[in-house]
Amino acid sequence: AKLLVLHGPNLNLLGEREPAIYGHTTLAEIDRDLCARSEALGHEMECLQSNAEHVLVDRVQAARADGTALILLNPAAFTHTSVALRDALAAVALPFYEIHLSNPHAREPFRRQSYFSDLAVGVVAGFGVDSYRYALDAALSRLASTRH
Ligand code: DQA
Repeated sequence: AKLLVLHGPNLNLLGEREPAIYGHTTLAEIDRDLCARSEALGHEMECLQSNAEHVLVDRVQAARADGTALILLNPAAFTHTSVALRDALAAVALPFYEIHLSNPHAREPFRRQSYFSDLAVGVVAGFGVDSYRYALDAALSRLASTRH
């Protein structure tokens, strides 16, 4: 199946950005690991990071027609602000997993609100880079059980 990984704003700085919170692994390393895992199982994966809301909205919209089976999404700061990205996910109605490296509930109060969690298949947060890996494992299990 075709999987799409979307990373929101500032995640291009992973590795150097607030390492006490987000760790030392770079985004390229995360993407490489996710691609290797999914391709080893015969899946196709595309990863995209953007600091621009409209780029993410456009990519989600395109997923409706390009055969994407499932989306892995770390909306980053858009988690707490973007009705537009939420609406795009609702519009395409593809299953998606919400991912966070940190646990937003253990941080500032403004991070407790997510525009995505109630639409997501599941939310994985607080496990550092392993959050991506756990979400991918869950996604792959779901694909295996929903394949006909
Ligand atoms: C984040 C948590 C968000 O609150 C924050 O704005 C981010 C990263 C995370 O992965 O922990 O940029 O999504």
